[in-house]
Amino acid sequence: MKERINKCSDWLLERFPISDLWNEHMAHYYAPKNFNIWYFFGSLALLVLVNQFITGILLTMNYKPDAKLAFDSVEYIMRDVNWGWLVRYMHSTGASAFFIVVYLHMFRGLVYGSFKQPRELIWIFGMLIFVCLMAEAFMGYLLPWGQMSYWGAQVIISLFSAIPVVGDELSLWVRGDYVVSDATLNRFFAFHVIAVPLVLLILVFLHIVALHEVGSNNPDGIEIKENLSWKGTPLDGIPFHPYYTVKDIVGVGVFMFFFATVIFYMPEMGGYFLEHANFIPADPLKTPEHIAPVWYFTPFYAILRAVPDKFAGVIAMGGAIVVLFMLPWLDRSPVKSIRYRGGIFKKAVLLFVIAFIGLGYLGTQPATPGATMVARVLTAVYFGFFLLMPLYTRWEKTKPVPERLTEQRTLEDRIPDLMAVIDEVVSVEKSPGMLGADNVKRRPNYAGIKTVLIRFAKNLKKSLD
Ligand code: HEM
Repeated sequence: MKERINKCSDWLLERFPISDLWNEHMAHYYAPKNFNIWYFFGSLALLVLVNQFITGILLTMNYKPDAKLAFDSVEYIMRDVNWGWLVRYMHSTGASAFFIVVYLHMFRGLVYGSFKQPRELIWIFGMLIFVCLMAEAFMGYLLPWGQMSYWGAQVIISLFSAIPVVGDELSLWVRGDYVVSDATLNRFFAFHVIAVPLVLLILVFLHIVALHEVGSNNPDGIEIKENLSWKGTPLDGIPFHPYYTVKDIVGVGVFMFFFATVIFYMPEMGGYFLEHANFIPADPLKTPEHIAPVWYFTPFYAILRAVPDKFAGVIAMGGAIVVLFMLPWLDRSPVKSIRYRGGIFKKAVLLFVIAFIGLGYLGTQPATPGATMVARVLTAVYFGFFLLMPLYTRWEKTKPVPERLTEQRTLEDRIPDLMAVIDEVVSVEKSPGMLGADNVKRRPNYAGIKTVLIRFAKNLKKSLD
């Protein structure tokens, strides 16, 4: 039997370079040895991509891309198809998980300078993936043909009409009709299930090829290829397989825990993952009171609404994405990682995060005059972060970058600290129970939580200096 298997594998290996590919990209691919939890999100993005493909194919088997049938076919999947509810929730939760994972992945790139030379192209491919992902999510959201699917699409497509001269024609061309209709649903279905996923797959492939050409960055922002052993392998590197394949599986386990919790206990996530209005069939004659896109679009939607003129708003919203493409050329700092940058960059990143989350929140809320004012300030912070970057990254004093990777505290090293924090925030009350055993009641310890938060804020402040 063993001999037969060996013969089969020899036959295959003589005809297809599986072992060369495996060695080049896994077993002999050296990655920096100091990857931290921020480096989980690339492989998690791949995992979510696979989840979306598989669940998407299964949904397509029972979904009907027809304005008269679409809503009911989704209800049919939820109620009558075996495990249909699970497949649908895995797909809808997967959409939000994709954006959570990708936003964290992008943030990692931002703080460790992974977009800087020689990794500009990895970033550009990443940004193209991000744009595709937004198109994919937007078109997918029309398919259940609920009120928010319909009116969300109506609002966003009508934005094209703000473009001078060609605007009206353009939005008509995108919709395929004067209003969102069956024609729109059909073309969005075609794009959502085949065209965009294909482009996405190609882009992810190019993203990884570009990454493996130059090698990964790391939390120190040091090029490991500059220090080689006598064998020609990086001194600060370890083979991706088995070290990071095993480590990534730990990340996958933790991710699955949260993913399953959402799917089984809170698939709508309070209306953030599946909006309440989308449980009502699309009605072209009845506009919902408050139209808001899904949470992952809201930072950009808030920028759109913050600008008083419709066309200028569309330009600002597009600009908010275009400016991200330009990041490799906006940052003039001689160092990559935030660890060795000056205080200005660290404070700028903090302000940017506050602005992004603030805009995200405001995008979910009605545009009252007060909210619009705040959104304008946050929009200015968002653009200020990028457009002033060439100045503050050139001026600020950076710290000397070590030649070799610094020591990385492992998860095992951190466990005692983590246990100490749990002891601080949880109070334990014991009372005598049955059969001589104690009854244990655990409650939040508010004084402890306050101390932990104050310590966290102080540490954050110290790290910004
Ligand atoms: C479907 C979405 C995506 C997938 C599957 C994906 C996959 C990956 C993987 C597997 C890695 C290597 C592991 C790691 O460094 O975490 C990586 C690295 C990287 N990705 Fe992505 N990515 C995606 C989207 C993006 C986006 C939207 C951006 C930014 C605009 C981006 C920027 C980067 C950068 C700069 C690196 C190199 C990081 C470093 O070496 O420090 N990726 N990506």
